[in-house]
Amino acid sequence: MFIELCCLTLLSVDNAGAPTFSEKEWAVVQSLSPAIVEKDTTNKYEHNENAALLGHAIFFDQRFSSTKKISCATCHTPEKYFTDGMAVAEGIQQTTRNTPTVLNAAHQRWFFWDGRADTLWGQPIQTMEHPDEMNMSREQVIATVDNDDALSELWAKAFGVLQADDVDANSAKIAKALASYIVKLEASHAPFDEFVAGDTEALSFSAQRGLKNFIGDGGCLRCHFGPWFTDGAFHSVGVGPLDGGPLQDSGRAGAIEKLKSSQFSAGGKHSDDPMSMRAVISKHIAKRREDWGAFRTPSLRNVAETAPFMHAGQLKTLDDVLEHYSTLENFVSADHHRETILKPLNLTKEQKNDLIAFLKSLTSPLPDSSLLTSP
Ligand code: HEC
Ligand code: HEC
Repeated sequence: MFIELCCLTLLSVDNAGAPTFSEKEWAVVQSLSPAIVEKDTTNKYEHNENAALLGHAIFFDQRFSSTKKISCATCHTPEKYFTDGMAVAEGIQQTTRNTPTVLNAAHQRWFFWDGRADTLWGQPIQTMEHPDEMNMSREQVIATVDNDDALSELWAKAFGVLQADDVDANSAKIAKALASYIVKLEASHAPFDEFVAGDTEALSFSAQRGLKNFIGDGGCLRCHFGPWFTDGAFHSVGVGPLDGGPLQDSGRAGAIEKLKSSQFSAGGKHSDDPMSMRAVISKHIAKRREDWGAFRTPSLRNVAETAPFMHAGQLKTLDDVLEHYSTLENFVSADHHRETILKPLNLTKEQKNDLIAFLKSLTSPLPDSSLLTSP
């Protein structure tokens, strides 16, 4: 009698029970964990503690914006999993893109939603100089470090004497210092990883069913695969602009020229490994027709903590995201091109809930608290 009662209760909470995984499916599940970041040979300061401390201090310092009111942490807020909770970021002025997290950012093949940077350290100078974001020239950035006792001391420890006239080389060092801090911001050990490692209780039955759908009928794995849940490539999933109408953001298509002309690229003068695979691939990259309106497949680790979603924060909740994949009702085609592999999934309410439970199981604790505030 007691047993029956217990199981009836269980059933009503989680009415379809635990799914079974075939040997083949389990091999796929194992390909999704554990997540490990590869070394970036284009930044020789990547694991330099003094460089990381300098980067850490700059990340939280509002003096690195023209209004002295904005730091990297204004948009990449630690408590919000290093995002800002807004559809599109607001710095000195409103921008046109959603703030991605910098947690685990080091794993990425391409940076920014359109992949216009091919290294992590290729990103910060662009952001600091952007008139809508921080609006500081690289000369002002360097002078701010040079004129501050604590920062210039960290600089000296990491890089030696600051030669103030070598502006671009110094900017690259600041960028590499910021990257070496961001490399520490790892949050890639989630209940899902415990489950793959053998703890069958780490995931609810609902999350397990969501996982099975994710790697199976849902077709998510075609783009979100591997331990970072991304193919490192660019696609259009048909989410239109925030205010309706046709697509305006050219996405990947607009990034290729910027990537090729960037001073701070894997193959450029300031790279510590200009012959690296990253550099070689960037050099040979060519614009393709389907790049117009395509955006990077984002990682799904910690995704439940980083709403709103998509490149311009068009979708407010995970439920909205799954509704989109389920119906493709508001699909906005990049005109000549439609991602042919996407078909409406017609998910039931329960399947959606299961997928959401699975996505939530990819949430890891935030990194050590010492990394979450100014040093
Ligand atoms: C005004 C808000 C804002 C500020 C300030 C800001 N960011 Fe960002 N950050 C963004 C947005 C928005 C993007 C995506 C832009 C795009 O894709 O075009 C981004 C992208 C990034 C990325 C790439 C992440 C990825 O997944 O590709 C990194 C790394 C990053 N920022 C680090 C920093 C650092 C370091 C600073 C300080 C120097 C900084 N950000 C300041 C909003 C901001
Ligand atoms: C064709 C490749 C592709 C498939 C298949 C796909 N995705 Fe995506 N996903 C993307 C791309 C690209 C984006 C970003 C699109 C944008 O910003 O315009 C994205 C965005 C997302 C986001 C928002 C992440 C964020 O940080 O904003 C979630 C959540 C997501 N996908 C989950 C799924 C799930 C669950 C499935 C299966 C039901 C799935 N995706 C299938 C490529 C794909």
